[in-house]
Amino acid sequence: MERKLFSPITFGHVTLKNRIVMAPMCMYSSEPEDGTVQPFHLTHYESRAAGQVGLVMLEATAVQPEGRISTKDLGIWHNDHIEGLQQLTDRIHAHGAKSSIQLAHAGRKAALPNDIFAPSALAFDENYQTPITLSETAIKETIEAFQLAAKRAKQAGFDIIEIHAAHGYLINQFLSPLTNKRDDQYGGNRENRYRILSEIIDAIKLEWTGPLFVRISADEYDQNGNTLDDFIYFSNEMKKQSISLIDCSTGGVIPATIKPYPGYQVPKAEVIKNQVAIPTGAVGLITTGIQAEEILQNERADLIFLARALLRNPYWAKTAADELNTTLEAPKQYSRGW
Ligand SMILES: Cc1cc2nc3c(=O)[nH]c(=O)nc-3n(C[C@H](O)[C@H](O)[C@H](O)COP(=O)(O)O)c2cc1C
Repeated sequence: MERKLFSPITFGHVTLKNRIVMAPMCMYSSEPEDGTVQPFHLTHYESRAAGQVGLVMLEATAVQPEGRISTKDLGIWHNDHIEGLQQLTDRIHAHGAKSSIQLAHAGRKAALPNDIFAPSALAFDENYQTPITLSETAIKETIEAFQLAAKRAKQAGFDIIEIHAAHGYLINQFLSPLTNKRDDQYGGNRENRYRILSEIIDAIKLEWTGPLFVRISADEYDQNGNTLDDFIYFSNEMKKQSISLIDCSTGGVIPATIKPYPGYQVPKAEVIKNQVAIPTGAVGLITTGIQAEEILQNERADLIFLARALLRNPYWAKTAADELNTTLEAPKQYSRGW
């Protein structure tokens, strides 16, 4: 029986063979601390492609060295990064999966020995440095860094780019009134707080004609943070800018205690999909095929992003197909064991 989880979906000229996405997950494994792809990354990402994930998304990859979460993050701030990334996309494509990269800047959540930068000089908590306020010139340079990263992503053969605007990293710090205390055109009302994301999208589109996803944190777990109305506003703006999909996560903007339960973030994907009429991705404690199929069949989201379940089981797609009593094509080398 045809299951929606295993049905294709098309964004622009890119067709995913199913709705299963490997969610971006930092592996902090660029051991030389220069942002380059290492043998571990090749094995890690290729394994999930062999496991029949439809879209393999790389971890948060830094567009500027000062935008790394740690010194061992992957990077895309230099042309020297392209070769390793190209090897990765080749290996992912060899299994019929599509490839994506999450372009990121950590802002005040960079745990680095050097200076760090953010919209306002507010530390995340006592374990983090106090960031330096970005000047308007530095903001322009950061936007250009996202543009150049998109150019390199294209050269490396990625099919989809995702902009990381969630989890309290740089773009999220601009979007949120909790972390953005600026009084220039990049701060204040929500139109201004959205401005950097708007300009990053426009800059990326100068280099990139493929599908563009954005990950947001659609709940800040603070009554003074962005509201649902704000997230609907941002999502409508993204739709006007031709964003293909909003990947709906939550949290990370300020230290807040979250009590996750199965599917806890799915209502965010659902409300944005239905109120804005834009494709969404659901993520967060989705662990079974039945759960994923329910989300898709009930039109609550268009893609299912899986993080920890895929760390435990690179063959999660096969497990889900068995659970949903449907068939899944095996990698030809593995058909005897399927
Ligand atoms: C090891 C690890 C690293 C992560 N790194 C990233 C990241 O680079 N970018 C991002 O947007 N989310 C990151 N996340 C969050 C996941 O993408 C996902 O949203 C979260 O784990 C909830 O999904 P799950 O319940 O399927 O694990 C990370 C999660 C884990 C477990």
